[in-house]
Amino acid sequence: MGESNPNHIHETGGVTQVPRSTSIHFDVFTLFPEMFRGPLDESILGRAREEGQLSVALHDIRGYATDKHHVTDEPPYGGGGGMVMKAEPIFNAVGTVLAEPSSGQTEEVTGESMDDGVPVVLLTPQGRLFSQEIAQAFSRRRRVALICGRYEGVDERVRQHLATDELSIGDYVLTGGELAAMVVIDAVTRLLPGVLGDPTATVQDSHARGILEGPHYTRPRVFRGWEVPEVLLSGDHAAVARWRREQALRRTLERRPDLLDTATLRPKDREFLEHLLKESERE
Ligand code: 6GU
Repeated sequence: MGESNPNHIHETGGVTQVPRSTSIHFDVFTLFPEMFRGPLDESILGRAREEGQLSVALHDIRGYATDKHHVTDEPPYGGGGGMVMKAEPIFNAVGTVLAEPSSGQTEEVTGESMDDGVPVVLLTPQGRLFSQEIAQAFSRRRRVALICGRYEGVDERVRQHLATDELSIGDYVLTGGELAAMVVIDAVTRLLPGVLGDPTATVQDSHARGILEGPHYTRPRVFRGWEVPEVLLSGDHAAVARWRREQALRRTLERRPDLLDTATLRPKDREFLEHLLKESERE
């Protein structure tokens, strides 16, 4: 990592990081832009938009259909049930919008030219599984396009010749990609610097470190007779840190042992897991 590195990669606490952009712009292509209002207006996403860290442009695909009735879906070739979203309105919409710089600024101002193209993501249950790692990769982008599939599907030529990426948010079927797009926007935006009040919050996240988070408690100390674990009241920061780590490991072993195969574990963590496994063998 030389000083002349064009990506300005620098060392922070021994971890090599590519700096995150401080803001991101999403272009969302959907037949139902109104679905996005509540989630984007409230709470952390609402504030991020007010403060300019997040901007979202909602593009109604219907407005890009060229026929008189603005038809966006038709029955599938070869028969069968349901409707398929037409390729042309989607190509028109994405082509028109991505030809313009976001927020009406020049490329030089937005830094969009620094990206190797804007990712064009099709939200579909057939996509690769969205993850914290993918959220982190997107959080380094200036601009991301999200296409929300609807009905029984999207004309295959959108996947083949327009989308650069296909994402699913889990192994279940939604009525459309809109809720999935909101999930992606939320997961990415909270990773941008300054969006969350506590800058260390995303480091402790479940999944950020490859394992689940442990339990949290707040006042009162005793609620309906259930007490807060003593160690959290001890003021012994090292003991608290050790306890939290062990709780996180215990919970991951119980609920998501698959995560332990890929998690970054210290020797102390492995010792503790060995101890838990021995403990459970004895029971
Ligand atoms: Cl991205 N779309 C739909 N329709 N269903 C899903 C999904 C996406 N991810 C999980 N289920």
